[in-house]
Amino acid sequence: MNPSGSTDAGSLEAMVRQVIGHQDGSRFVEILPQLSDDLNEVDAVIQEALRSTYPFLTEAANYATASGGKRLRPLVILVVYRGLTSDATKPVHPLAAAFQLIHTASLVHDDLIDHAPLRRGKPSVHEAFGLPTAIVAGDYLFVRAFQLAGRYSPEVIQRCGDASADLALGEVMQENSRFDLSIDRERYLRIVTLKTANAIAAGAEAAAMVARAEPRVIRSLGEYGQALGIAFQLKDDALDMYGESDVTGKPLLSDLREGLPTLPSILAYQRLSDREREEFERLFTLRHKRQAHLLRLKELCDTAGVREPVEREAEKWVATAIEALHAIPPSPFRDLLEAVASGSIQRKV
Ligand code: IPE
Ligand code: IPE
Ligand code: MG
Ligand code: MG
Repeated sequence: MNPSGSTDAGSLEAMVRQVIGHQDGSRFVEILPQLSDDLNEVDAVIQEALRSTYPFLTEAANYATASGGKRLRPLVILVVYRGLTSDATKPVHPLAAAFQLIHTASLVHDDLIDHAPLRRGKPSVHEAFGLPTAIVAGDYLFVRAFQLAGRYSPEVIQRCGDASADLALGEVMQENSRFDLSIDRERYLRIVTLKTANAIAAGAEAAAMVARAEPRVIRSLGEYGQALGIAFQLKDDALDMYGESDVTGKPLLSDLREGLPTLPSILAYQRLSDREREEFERLFTLRHKRQAHLLRLKELCDTAGVREPVEREAEKWVATAIEALHAIPPSPFRDLLEAVASGSIQRKV
């Protein structure tokens, strides 16, 4: 896999290994090949869904999907399904494709809201194709996702709809909090739940529904997905500050640059001395920041010692996710879901 997260040179299996972080992947040698076959099928469903008679739109949509990313959402859907039934996996492929398309659509729109120049190591869609095409391509990806989801039961379709609506609400709430350092942990977690975790939860629940699991199991998998999603976003926010841009494929310090309060900056604001807090707020709320401003903001986060409590918070959500897995029978697939949860905060990409 190349550093931006695409799989052109490497295998999907290698990508799954990357998702589980530095844990021992040899435990999963039996099941990884099946899962990478599934992911290949999901990619094929996506490609088929994006065929359009409008070449320019198809080009932008394919550009957004081609780099693939880590495929966390389809992976969770496939592993949940395989962990609950030995039925053929074909029936769940369109669902996994739909959730990956919803995710991709949200990234296209998120990048233009966040003025992000780079995604998965390549120019973001609005950089490559311009703003109007990026808006329409995002819409187009959502619509194709719902054409795929439309073949499932009303409950599953409802989950996909709620997940997408929550995503939109999360983005709006985040936008309303831009430059506002007074938001607390609870509000931050609410935004993260809406913009990231609920879609992962909905995917896990929908997969359990397609596998005809009991309501209790469906609920637990929703709890798993939600806690995993929160941990995953906490790590994303930490990587923005402590990661390596050529590995994440995204520019560093972009949340600070954009004035988006994430847990590291919220905690820094709470913990700094009065004088430092004033400086932090002054720099954080600048509409145009120079590199020196960003580095000073990061330095103040370090002074406040925020890295460790952010990691503790993420670990707590991983433990919650793993706990929720007790509702499903032990199997290598359950172990893999556990490894995905642990890996969500160990990852560098
Ligand atoms: C990025 O998601 C947006 C967040 C919710 C943090 P991913 O990190 O899953 O993005 P890709 O699909 O792997 O690029
Ligand atoms: C996740 O938040 C955005 C969505 C869920 C669409 P971020 O804004 O932190 O994601 P990145 O860092 O741009 O990938
Ligand atoms: Mg963003
Ligand atoms: Mg981010």
